Amino acid sequence: MKIAITGKGGSGKTTIAAGLIKLLVEKEKSVIAVDCDPDISLGLALDFPEYARIKPICEMKDLISQRTESDPLKPQGFFKINPKVDDIPEKFCPQDKGVRLIVMGKVDKPQGGCLCPENTFVRSLIGHLVLRQDEIVIMDMVAGSEHLGRATARGVDIFLIVAEPSETSIQTAVHIQSLAQGLGITKIFYVANKVKNESDIDFINASLKAKVKGVISVNKALEQARGRFVFDETLHKEVETMYNAISGLS
Ligand SMILES: Nc1ncnc2c1ncn2[C@@H]1O[C@H](COP(=O)(O)OP(=O)(O)OP(=O)(O)O)[C@@H](O)[C@H]1O
Ligand SMILES: [Mg+2]
Repeated sequence: MKIAITGKGGSGKTTIAAGLIKLLVEKEKSVIAVDCDPDISLGLALDFPEYARIKPICEMKDLISQRTESDPLKPQGFFKINPKVDDIPEKFCPQDKGVRLIVMGKVDKPQGGCLCPENTFVRSLIGHLVLRQDEIVIMDMVAGSEHLGRATARGVDIFLIVAEPSETSIQTAVHIQSLAQGLGITKIFYVANKVKNESDIDFINASLKAKVKGVISVNKALEQARGRFVFDETLHKEVETMYNAISGLS
């Protein structure tokens, strides 16, 4: 199962990704966790050992120029657009307690269609990950779907859009949905986050013209932790209910 999590900045993508990953590990699944956000944070949320020292893929300049056969001094020159990437997770990405963490990092020129070696390498790697059979891949995305090419998008089983009960969050969510549909993704689900009451859920459902697949309430433990990830009983239950709904278990 390959799940890409997206939504407006600050909506709770990393929190929900980390919750899902923890839940799946508890169920004795091994998970590939992919941090696609240039503002790296999934490793911290997962409390990954020495997360601050993990070198993002984009910064592996020598490896990228070797694999793409590009000249780092001539970034606009010719290079290979289908580099070998199948050994990258095992050789270059750390593993801890059932989780393999892949940190993509920040591509220097983040334009959507940028054809620099770094971006091509990242896209190839994501493309490879979503096609690996029998593996669970959870991707913490940036808002939007810049990293997803059309071919890659076909490999994503579920596109999960996090929406907060606010007009701007809903606007972004709807925009992302149309981008994802344009890429040919069919299973696009919404999860409502930071919900205070029933009327928040009604507002989100009505604004999205779709029923959310999960509801995560405003969580006191998270609020008190000031940005640190905490997986308390309430969040655990809500993430599990959401997982069952999106994976068709309920
Ligand atoms: N249900 C919740 N209740 C209370 N606080 C929450 C909840 N979900 C997320 N938060 C808090 O909101 C902040 C943003 O969450 P998070 O980092 O998961 O969002 P994000 O979408 O990944 O942000 P970014 O776009 O910056 O990557 C964090 O401080 C987090 O602890
Ligand atoms: Mg995040």
